[in-house]
Amino acid sequence: MDRRVFFRFLEFSIPLWYDSVSMNTRKFHVKNFGCQMNKLDSALVVSALRQSGFIPTEHASEADIVLINTCSVRRHAEDRVLSHLGHLKHIKENRPELVVAVIGCMAQRLGSDLLSHEAVDLVAGPAQLPDIPRLIEEILERRTKTLAVTDKIRTAAEPGQLHALDQFEYAYDSDANHIPGQAFVRAMRGCNQFCTYCIVPYVRGPEESRSPHVLVEQAKKLADQGVRQITLLGQTINSYSYRNGDRHYGLADLLEMTARIDGIEWIRFITSHPGRFDEAILHAMADIDKICPYLHIPAQSGSDRILKAMHRGYTARQYLDLLAQARQIVPEIAIAGDFIVGFPGETEDDFEATVGLVREARYKNCFVFKYSPRPGTRADSKMADTIPEAVKKERNLGLLEVQNEISETDNQRFVEQEVKVLVEGLSKKPHLNQADEGGKPQLIGRTATDFIVVFNGPESLAGQFAKVRIEKAGALTLFGTRIE
Ligand code: 5AD
Ligand code: SF4
Repeated sequence: MDRRVFFRFLEFSIPLWYDSVSMNTRKFHVKNFGCQMNKLDSALVVSALRQSGFIPTEHASEADIVLINTCSVRRHAEDRVLSHLGHLKHIKENRPELVVAVIGCMAQRLGSDLLSHEAVDLVAGPAQLPDIPRLIEEILERRTKTLAVTDKIRTAAEPGQLHALDQFEYAYDSDANHIPGQAFVRAMRGCNQFCTYCIVPYVRGPEESRSPHVLVEQAKKLADQGVRQITLLGQTINSYSYRNGDRHYGLADLLEMTARIDGIEWIRFITSHPGRFDEAILHAMADIDKICPYLHIPAQSGSDRILKAMHRGYTARQYLDLLAQARQIVPEIAIAGDFIVGFPGETEDDFEATVGLVREARYKNCFVFKYSPRPGTRADSKMADTIPEAVKKERNLGLLEVQNEISETDNQRFVEQEVKVLVEGLSKKPHLNQADEGGKPQLIGRTATDFIVVFNGPESLAGQFAKVRIEKAGALTLFGTRIE
């Protein structure tokens, strides 16, 4: 067996309080850190635990089991988990029966080191999600510390394990834990790009595309439950590739197949990699109304020297040419990007090149991150983290400011326009959340192009489409009035 799963059981004495954990009142609480992939993983685990008879709770204080779904992309995310574990350790001093599970990327990365933390009972990687209900049962019964991670993470998973993961996704994906009317569907697992700064290939393993037929079945099931928008997930979703005999399916094929499902109105896909971007995807977007004209396509830097050091596989000009082609084929397309500032050796000139790229790209929005060295990645082993924190911070804020100006200017085109949004629910920002004269609260919705729109309306609109006339446009949010 070349891709083994380790289960290690460290027995310790079974205390008297065990009897007090009654089988049908075991409550669990899941805390999620990280990306959409993690949100989906958490939703699947919640659904699987419910089906095993556990009861979810919003309050960690009343839970018998706390699961922390972790992210390893930046050190900050890991530090937050560790400080949370410190907090749980204190709680366990008074409630030793509390079971704490650390799951996801950090669990896979740190394995037994995490298990040695006093607060932790279970460490389970992303590939062990289907085992979690059983492992928790065993821990409740035997009071063992348990490690369940993949040994050789870069070795292709065995068909049996992939099948188990597929079954798990199919069985437990439901609309219950997503934004009303929306669902994430994993089209691919893992990543083969090995960008030098990135931990993902080492914690999520090699790229694997799921069968388009299974994905379509899953999307149909979700549509039957009332889901209107599907977001296909993959670390490099445009490299989706599935072969069945002579037939090959790329992302454009998968999009077309998903668009044929009755009830599914909008389809998105995240995240795209700019290397080898198949034009057919853009044509599908232009030709099929259901495919949202939106691309999240990180550039990471505008400096060719840094792009090379990052092992991104394209130049700034090639990237900008791809955006121009996308806009030519899909004129209404909205584009979002990611950037890392303060990569080892990034000079002022390199940073200026990034600013130049952002100015030319005219994104809808972009996410900017300060470089965070990740143990085990090539950037960390070969390059020193030379850029001082203060400089990273300054570049981070500087780049966001450039983007903000662009967004604020470009968003004015929406004023007095009508837009269609899929309503997510109540606006979470209290300063925005004011009722109108009719007592209707402020809701939040998104356009097909992913613009956030705030307007007043009944809460019951969540999960449905609405039309809004835009009155005011900021850099990040559009404000308007619902047209009934
Ligand atoms: N440091 C900072 N940001 C990172 N990202 C990935 N790895 C790192 C890292 N080591 C960013 C990239 C990616 C986003 C999800 O996180 O911009 O697109
Ligand atoms: Fe990380 Fe690069 Fe893969 Fe994205 S494409 S997950 S940045 S290695």
